[in-house]
Amino acid sequence: MSGSSASASRDAAVRHIVITGASRGIGRELALLYAAPNSHLTLIARSAGLLQDVAGLCRSRGATVDVRIADITDAGAIADALEMAAGVAGFDLLIANAGIGGADAMAGPAGEHPDAARAIASVNFLGVVNTIAPAIACMTRQGRGRIVIVGSVAGLVPLPSSPAYSAAKAGIRAYGIALDRLLRTSGVRVTVVSPGFVETDMSASLSMSLPFLVPAAEAARIIASGVERGSREIVFPWQVRAAAWFMRLLPDRVLVWIVERSQKKLVS
Ligand SMILES: NC(=O)c1ccc[n+]([C@@H]2O[C@H](COP(=O)([O-])OP(=O)(O)OC[C@H]3O[C@@H](n4cnc5c(N)ncnc54)[C@H](OP(=O)(O)O)[C@@H]3O)[C@@H](O)[C@H]2O)c1
Repeated sequence: MSGSSASASRDAAVRHIVITGASRGIGRELALLYAAPNSHLTLIARSAGLLQDVAGLCRSRGATVDVRIADITDAGAIADALEMAAGVAGFDLLIANAGIGGADAMAGPAGEHPDAARAIASVNFLGVVNTIAPAIACMTRQGRGRIVIVGSVAGLVPLPSSPAYSAAKAGIRAYGIALDRLLRTSGVRVTVVSPGFVETDMSASLSMSLPFLVPAAEAARIIASGVERGSREIVFPWQVRAAAWFMRLLPDRVLVWIVERSQKKLVS
């Protein structure tokens, strides 16, 4: 793990925001959105060059920034990155956003290859737990802080096209909801985010039409405003939220028929 340090301590009025998967996509847009003179950002991902580019843009908006290179599947590396981040002066907001998906998460007719299924579970479930678990003690000691988990609408409505991705996202949603209940009296709160399609490299890898696609900058604004309101769950866009709510009321065979039919129509 390596990094470039911006500061060893900071003013209490400055918010410290930690974002995983900040090199691209939704995480990059969240970093740019939170970049301001009263913010200290810790940006985490594996791609050093891309992270440094994002860090430069954030600094030009007045934020101080630390870059930490870590793979979230490496529990020791991500724990070290978070320990260094906590040393700056605790955390106000930890956004566990890093994940894999898109074409990498699509199953064939016989499901995912076992290696692909393991990789999905290892990044999208265990990697997120690796990110959050080391931060909890620091946040409960502070008696404040918010953890944000970026899941997916596939965690609400399991998709036949991606069983392992759906399972990992459903699992991490349950983890977040349970953690919020566990930490309720500690002052630490948890928000679970379930986006529909967002315009990033991940969605661009899918060879299908992407209904209700949301630009990544807009996704970041929706997430940040839900976090400011203290929402426990954020599902967007509203069309996907309404569809997910409606689909959960349907009998399973009707639900499967709708999902299969829409996916046949979507694949070009
Ligand atoms: N785009 C969508 O339509 C969509 C929809 C629903 C949910 N989501 C969720 O939103 C989150 C962000 O997705 P995105 O669309 O912004 O994807 P993206 O553009 O592909 O970016 C993924 C980010 O995660 C990081 N990452 C991936 N594996 C990592 C690992 N093992 N360790 C550390 N960092 C890792 C990547 O950085 P490096 O490669 O530099 O490490 C990158 O910064 C994911 O959790 C995804 O499942 C996306």
